[in-house]
Amino acid sequence: MRSILALSTLSLAAISVAAPAGKRSDADNGFPLDNGFPNPSADQLRIIQQQAFGTLPNGSPPARISTDGLTNIKLIALNELFEVKFFEELIYNVTNKVSGYDLGYSHEFVKDSLKAILAQEELHALNVLGALKHFGVDPIRPCKYNFPVTNFQQAIALAATFTDLVLGTLQDVNQIFAKNGDDGLVRAVSSVIGNEGEQEGFFHVLQDKRPSTLPFLTTGVRDFAFTAIQSFTIPGSCSNINSIPLKTFKPLTVVSTNIKPETQNLKFSFNAADAGTTDWNTLSVVFINQQNVPVVKSLQSPTEAGGVLTFDAAFPFEENEMNGLTIAAVTRGSGPFTSAQDVALATIFAPGLIEI
Ligand SMILES: *[C@@H]1O[C@H](CO)[C@@H](O)[C@H](O)[C@H]1NC(C)=O
Repeated sequence: MRSILALSTLSLAAISVAAPAGKRSDADNGFPLDNGFPNPSADQLRIIQQQAFGTLPNGSPPARISTDGLTNIKLIALNELFEVKFFEELIYNVTNKVSGYDLGYSHEFVKDSLKAILAQEELHALNVLGALKHFGVDPIRPCKYNFPVTNFQQAIALAATFTDLVLGTLQDVNQIFAKNGDDGLVRAVSSVIGNEGEQEGFFHVLQDKRPSTLPFLTTGVRDFAFTAIQSFTIPGSCSNINSIPLKTFKPLTVVSTNIKPETQNLKFSFNAADAGTTDWNTLSVVFINQQNVPVVKSLQSPTEAGGVLTFDAAFPFEENEMNGLTIAAVTRGSGPFTSAQDVALATIFAPGLIEI
């Protein structure tokens, strides 16, 4: 928190007039929010735009979209709904100084910044929900969420991790738009990538890290994000998630914690019965980092206990400067894989999210 304490003196002028976070709704999944989101009235939308310090794009989306492009928009909607709920809950915790969320001196600056982020995420969501409507598709509906955090530092570490994953996934989204002739959507998504990058820099400073991580941010593919988002939802609570034709992988746990920036072995685990084999030599651990060709390693010292397979894999940090986000996957076979997409096609367990 050292850096933000210094920053907070700069920020006193920036404190805004955002409304206090409302009471926690016990009903169902907590939607709609007090401001009507995801279906705000015109007046409510005007207030969200003021809180976001900007507006929804006011031109119209393209007349047509490819099928794969539509999947992009559905995934973005699912993700933005999740982010909205996360930041709404985080602001509630900070506003009410829930135990673990009293930030002391920098409290107002952080709360003010988070409120802008929440309103900006609400507009990201409304923009894609509006696009779905424009293309005659049912809106993606919110889920009921469960965030594995109980204090501010954990919450910011989680926000930094899922934002990094989004920053990789939106690269995939733009690539897919480009391939399918959906060029009319690339500009707006690119503008969102920049916004999410600004957020990521803030989350880094809050963790006493440098704001910018890597020259070329880690890429991802949609299926990794689709799987990761579901790990924060209550099973069965996403009423139309099955309208998103993406793949859900089996979970991969990164057992190692406080991973240092050095070459080392990392420990992972997965549910052995989900592997479809017990010949562990036929599987590989693959690391996706930056814009580099995926790194393939073998499963070392596999040990099964209580149905869980635990193993090590060499993590070649120094050779590859593996800072920022690394996405780990366990694949059938050892490739070689030329791209993250290639990895996803062979993946059984993923994504293991490693942040350095
Ligand atoms: C808010 O605080 C509650 C109570 O500690 C916790 O269960 C929840 O995960 C927190 N949410 C966020 C987003 O920090």
